[in-house]
Amino acid sequence: MQDTLIKKIFDVDEVRRDFPILNREIDGKPLVYLDNAATSQKPVSVINAISDYYSRYNANIHRGVYSISMEASAAYENARISVKEFINAASEREIIFTRGTTEAINLVAYSYGLQNVNEGSEVIVSELEHHANIVPWQVLCQNRKAHLKVIPVNEKGELVIEEYKKLLSDKTAIVAVSHISNSLGTINPVKEIVRLAKAKNPKIAVLIDGAQAIHHTHVDVRDIGADFYAFSGHKMYGPMGIGVLYGRESLLEAMPPYQTGGDMISRVSFEGTTYNELPMKFEAGTPNVEGAVGLNAAIDYINSIGFGAIEEQEKMLLDHATEEILKIDGIRIIGTSQNKASVLSFVVNGLNALDIGIMLDTHGVAVRTGQHCTEPLMDKLCLPGTVRASFAFYNTKEEVDVFIKALKKVIDILK
Ligand code: ALA
Repeated sequence: MQDTLIKKIFDVDEVRRDFPILNREIDGKPLVYLDNAATSQKPVSVINAISDYYSRYNANIHRGVYSISMEASAAYENARISVKEFINAASEREIIFTRGTTEAINLVAYSYGLQNVNEGSEVIVSELEHHANIVPWQVLCQNRKAHLKVIPVNEKGELVIEEYKKLLSDKTAIVAVSHISNSLGTINPVKEIVRLAKAKNPKIAVLIDGAQAIHHTHVDVRDIGADFYAFSGHKMYGPMGIGVLYGRESLLEAMPPYQTGGDMISRVSFEGTTYNELPMKFEAGTPNVEGAVGLNAAIDYINSIGFGAIEEQEKMLLDHATEEILKIDGIRIIGTSQNKASVLSFVVNGLNALDIGIMLDTHGVAVRTGQHCTEPLMDKLCLPGTVRASFAFYNTKEEVDVFIKALKKVIDILK
């Protein structure tokens, strides 16, 4: 009901006024920002929330007995409550602030992983993964003499679930897969992936890398059923340097700290140290208060737009871009799953992705080129890289047209 009301008043021109950077020009041409999978732009409410924090109540938290410290502590903890509600976690004890998705995954690999992965254990990832959801597991497996197993993708860029079922075994300790592929946009059936793991053995821990999903669709961690869900603030219109690890409370309780120092302790003596309660046990040192405040404002902003409107606008942009790009000779779209987020990866026969990206910039169009931190996926697809345009709800159909027109010109020049 609320989404329906919000959808009616969604006006992309009005929304764009919330993002000052979208008014920028690049060499006299309007910026057409289509690298939203790398990082999103920030609404003025997020920028102001950060500025307000530093202007009015910057102080260290959890330790001051004076007003501004207590205000900062409250703002930090309010952000945790907002995150909990945003992803429907059971308790704020399950919300750990990290530097981002990468740190959240490393936390699980080093804390849960070192405790639960033994010689001969198996950790399952997929060919679609970002390096951040490969390398920590690879290092863990090397440390523990365990084995990394990989779910293959098909020619559309979808996970082959039949092969995943075969990989699940009595030795599987952890399954770690992305919710949405950053390179191809494939939306993975994460609920089914969790269900299959738990049906094999309820003790298999499942981590979902939600870096590319958290801003596209409503994430309900209890509905997905994963043990861990990781994401970054900067992909969801919030600041850089803040991210979240959601973890099932019973698992977090049993895990050792990942980093040690101030704030994560209960009592310290030279004879030994006891640790703080959740979530502080996993937040050593002065935290990123500015980041949490900005993230809270970003959540408010997303809620004010509504995922109904966000998904509708992004689908329109992806459909339009896909239709138009396929009219260009020599284009091949990489990643053709039916179930796709607003990511359009492509190659052009005979042309280098990097050259295309550099030339598009001269038209004011910002895209990402290369391997997108998914080198094993590119190897599997036998590609040196792709050009990737990724759309956010503040992009317009007209911007897609500017991108397509510029791409045609670039191809004509390079060929
Ligand atoms: N992971 C980010 C991307 O896909 C940086 O571009």
